[in-house]
Amino acid sequence: MTQRTAAPFYLDCDTGIDDALALAYLLASPRAELVGIGTVSGNISAAGGARNTLDLLSLAGHPDIPVAVGAHDPQVGTFHGGAPHVHGDNGIGGVDLPTSDREPIEATAAELLVQLAHQHAGELRVVAIGPLTNIAEALRLEPKLPELVAEITIMGGAAMAPGNITPVAEANIANDPEAAAEVLAASWNVTLVPLDVTMTNVFEESHRQELLASEHPVSQALGEMLGYYFGFYIDIFGRACSAMHDPLAAAIAVRGVELAVAPTVRVAVDTTNGPSRGQTVCDLRGLYAGFPAQSGARCQVVLELGEDFAPHLLGTMQAAWLSEEQVAAPVA
Ligand code: BDR
Ligand code: CA
Repeated sequence: MTQRTAAPFYLDCDTGIDDALALAYLLASPRAELVGIGTVSGNISAAGGARNTLDLLSLAGHPDIPVAVGAHDPQVGTFHGGAPHVHGDNGIGGVDLPTSDREPIEATAAELLVQLAHQHAGELRVVAIGPLTNIAEALRLEPKLPELVAEITIMGGAAMAPGNITPVAEANIANDPEAAAEVLAASWNVTLVPLDVTMTNVFEESHRQELLASEHPVSQALGEMLGYYFGFYIDIFGRACSAMHDPLAAAIAVRGVELAVAPTVRVAVDTTNGPSRGQTVCDLRGLYAGFPAQSGARCQVVLELGEDFAPHLLGTMQAAWLSEEQVAAPVA
């Protein structure tokens, strides 16, 4: 039997179809131990995201991980109502999961993050795959958070690629630019996983069919959800497939995939009200010289992978679910 040498992880999400895949990946990875999950409004409301998360955790056989509801509204303005055209009215492509009898804990997502950061001081890894409202709130609750947390990996932004909400802004940053600016200005080790790399690593129909063919209920639910997600992406890619935003950030956080181009640079977020509001301004001028060290830079921006992502994603989940089946099977 393989020994799990897992680091503690806190996941902040807006569950969401690709968030559901990221959650499944983190549950499956032998390198991660999920110790808490917070939700934030984005693809769906923070409360709706918590419901999806609790139902997925129960279906996956992980009923003990605490789930906390986080911010409903961004720092400026109010929640816009989600992205039903991308993720469906219920956030998970209309898939009807069995309702878990669990409820979210009383603490807010920001409070849960601060508590876990103290409990796992110096070891906790944060994966943020929704708007950064909860993370910014946690920084205000506990200014020492950057010293307590080992690192944070964020799915968000667009370095050289176009945005997906405006010509230059990606959804997670566009939904709360003020929070993103605070989080990226804090003095911690940040890895940013922007559209540059998430739009170029796709999940194909053949991969989805592999999920649907599995006997594992989570695998089948994910396969069904992806059917809805592919419907949105067909106009973008011209075939049935989808981007892999959030699971890719999760895999990068657990060091599950090899990075080919990932310079550490300065990144700022535009919080003005002009046409570039929500843009992640990445200082990539070093590109011309092979990215020499940049003073004051602490944000690693992942631009290219060194391997195909979809086989790793599928393989990680299948390996975990296969070993579960082996454990469950009676010994002959
Ligand atoms: C990001 O926005 C959300 O719709 C996805 O879940 C992902 O986190 C991609 O821009
Ligand atoms: Ca998300």
